[in-house]
Amino acid sequence: MEKIPYDLVLDIQRKVNIVDVIGEYLPLERRGKNYFAICPFHDDHNPSMSISSEKQIYTCFVCGASGNVFNFVMNYENISFTEAVSKVAKKAGIDINYHDTKKVYKKDDENDKYYKMFDITSKYYQNNLKSVYGKKAIQYLNQRNLDGNVIKEFEIGLSMNDNNLSKILKNKGYDVNDLIDVGLCGKKDKYIYDVFRNRIMFPLYNLNGQVIGFSGRIYNNEENESKYVNSKESVIFKKGSVLYNYHRALNEAREKHQIIIVEGFMDVIRLFTIGVKNVVATMGTAITKNHASLIKRMSKNVILCFDGDKAGEKATLSALEQFEKIGLSPKIIRLEDDLDPDDYVVKKGKDAFFTHFANPLSDVLFKLDVDKKNTNFNDYKEVSNYLNLAVKELEKIDDKVIYELTLKDLSKQTGVDVSTINEMVSNKPKKVTNIIDKRIISNKDKYTKAEEYLIYYMLRNKDAIYLYQNKVSYLKDKRLSRIAMEILEFYERNKYINTTDFTIFLEDKTELINEVLRIDELNLPLEVSTDVLNDYIKTIDEGIIKKEIEKVKEKIKTETNVAKKIALLEKLRNLKKKECK
Ligand code: CTP
Ligand code: MN
Repeated sequence: MEKIPYDLVLDIQRKVNIVDVIGEYLPLERRGKNYFAICPFHDDHNPSMSISSEKQIYTCFVCGASGNVFNFVMNYENISFTEAVSKVAKKAGIDINYHDTKKVYKKDDENDKYYKMFDITSKYYQNNLKSVYGKKAIQYLNQRNLDGNVIKEFEIGLSMNDNNLSKILKNKGYDVNDLIDVGLCGKKDKYIYDVFRNRIMFPLYNLNGQVIGFSGRIYNNEENESKYVNSKESVIFKKGSVLYNYHRALNEAREKHQIIIVEGFMDVIRLFTIGVKNVVATMGTAITKNHASLIKRMSKNVILCFDGDKAGEKATLSALEQFEKIGLSPKIIRLEDDLDPDDYVVKKGKDAFFTHFANPLSDVLFKLDVDKKNTNFNDYKEVSNYLNLAVKELEKIDDKVIYELTLKDLSKQTGVDVSTINEMVSNKPKKVTNIIDKRIISNKDKYTKAEEYLIYYMLRNKDAIYLYQNKVSYLKDKRLSRIAMEILEFYERNKYINTTDFTIFLEDKTELINEVLRIDELNLPLEVSTDVLNDYIKTIDEGIIKKEIEKVKEKIKTETNVAKKIALLEKLRNLKKKECK
């Protein structure tokens, strides 16, 4: 989707109310002027997100998540800014009269005839299963512990060993070439025949729940037949962008803040029967980039539960790579005895499955487990190789506790001292991941504070913007410096400023938006004199000189060339002179 222009985005924002939009996603509680909700962006138990109808902004005072209506939809649904804008527009019944967005919608209409064909076909298959011809197939399904409810829910059907489907579709007026293109019919000489024959039919759906293909399974122990036959790819069916059960699982995944990924659709169906509904299947293919970002939209909390065999282990490793690229670290369930989730539940019972489910492995531990299996711990060289791999994984851990526990585990496994392993790790975790104290604890120096105060006024006062433009070259704090630059650009284009509109201009720059809204809430008077602004600028300058001095000092320490060193010392003297002024 192409970018939607700022003016149009602003127009949409003015026509909707953030309270109504968020109210569609979360229960709201009214307190005075504001509304409150349980924050969906951290593990919240008391309503800590406030929504201001006056400012059209939401803010969580615990985790700091904040933004405008588009940021909410974007972050909640894990979609792009542009997608969020068109979604909000659609909700509000606003026609985005914008050619590129329109094109996207039009394409669906063109495909309407295909959706209809598959819909008719699916109903036809379901009827076959219910008819006298379906007895054996039903028997097979029952043997696999799938009852009438499941068959109905998943719209399971049966294809016949004849060409009736082709006849029906032709009689309804569908173009034979279209039927062949989507793989429902075939043509030999002059004869048109049904492609799927005598198989149990599982419909495959697109993200909206429309049928776009089938997977047919044998049920009679036919020899020399492949177990599953799938619809061929077509204009509406692309295997790499289909996730089985996406449309049924989406809301459940968002409510439970968790999505489980399995390989086969039988696994999905089995988990459904034991009440696990936030689950999708890749249908035997490797996870694509496309799959991964679709899954991210459902929940960032991903659990991989592939088959327990060696192939499943390999698929898990390659899936982890895809998820890492988009910033997710899934948890992993490994089932013993090479079983897939379906067989596991049937053979070992649902409680055994739930035990696994409650104790998934972290990605790091899973990868180490795999490495461990490939290591002979009596061979020092192999132990060393293993440790080197492990150290690479340790370096990725941000959480201090997980880091320490993993370190201890490794030491136990290898017999190498904790301190030795710890020394091998080059960048130890910088911080304990803790979202809570970000906003409360402020140990900022006076220079950064002055920079924040100046930005506070730049957000509401054009004189502050002019002063920044004429007197300040940049800010010591990189993020604040970027915000100042964005403000200049916003003001230049629009000749006015207010915080909410400015956040819309920032689109999907979530970090900047959070910072802007935090600064906007600082407890400062709304009006300010030029003198005070000049004081801030003076302090900012001092901060910048101080930073420069530190940088030059560092360089002097390492510089070996005498001439260059002298030049640096000269520079240092000048800076110090400036500092005293
Ligand atoms: N698959 C496929 N084509 C095949 C084999 C498999 O598309 N010829 C896909 C199906 O979506 C299947 C998944 O890969 O669900 C996993 O395959 P497999 O493990 O072989 O099937 P199971 O899910 O175990 O199926 P069943 O329990 O019915 O044997
Ligand atoms: Mn199976």
